[in-house]
Amino acid sequence: MNTVPADLDVIRDSYDRAADNYVEMGVGDIRKHPWLCAALNVFAEAVGGRGPVLDVGCGPGTVTAYLAERGVDVSGVDLSPRMIEHARRLHPECTFSVGSSTDLELAEASFGGVLGWWSLFNLPRDVLPRVLSSFAKALVPQGQLMIGTHVGDGDVRRTEAYGVPVHWTTHLWQPEQLAALVEQTGLRITAELRLPAKGEIRPGVVLVAQREG
Ligand SMILES: C[S@@+](CC[C@H](N)C(=O)[O-])C[C@H]1O[C@@H](n2cnc3c(N)ncnc32)[C@H](O)[C@@H]1O
Repeated sequence: MNTVPADLDVIRDSYDRAADNYVEMGVGDIRKHPWLCAALNVFAEAVGGRGPVLDVGCGPGTVTAYLAERGVDVSGVDLSPRMIEHARRLHPECTFSVGSSTDLELAEASFGGVLGWWSLFNLPRDVLPRVLSSFAKALVPQGQLMIGTHVGDGDVRRTEAYGVPVHWTTHLWQPEQLAALVEQTGLRITAELRLPAKGEIRPGVVLVAQREG
């Protein structure tokens, strides 16, 4: 898949710089968000017995570990080596590796589930469809894709995040646009959870889709 974004190195460096504060600040602690926990609980049940699950863009592994605690055979992969150092330290019971969603070379029909949990919004708009397509092909029949991301219109240039200088673009998506992209991969959308803006946190959406067959 020749889909490497031009700014991948800059994004990796930015998340490497942000990783310590991300962990320190408890960002991504889903236990503070009961509706997100509910979605992950259902996902954990839905992938049960279907095969391994890959948490793509796992960051420090909070969600990976949450799924593992629920009996899911899950591993995590992230672009940022520093995020993966934290994930391995914090969750030694799970397996983590460094890699980009754009070049994972996932074998066809090899996963019961794939998760992209607030980790796909840096992908350029012309790259995301090919990444989603690679996820869809990697699912077994009845396999589950779950993605969560920021909702909105347009692109936001970030120069600061989690208290450190960063250089990345957050590509915002409307739920309908994102659902259409997912359906173009051949998956069927089975659920959608919308989260309103809260303080400085943007609105979000979680989409779940299933491979037919
Ligand atoms: C906002 S954090 C979310 C992390 C984690 N999913 C969580 O919920 O805590 C975004 C993560 O996506 C990762 N990321 C960004 N671009 C990526 C890519 N092309 N491939 C893999 N991971 C990527 C970053 O390194 C970062 O860890």
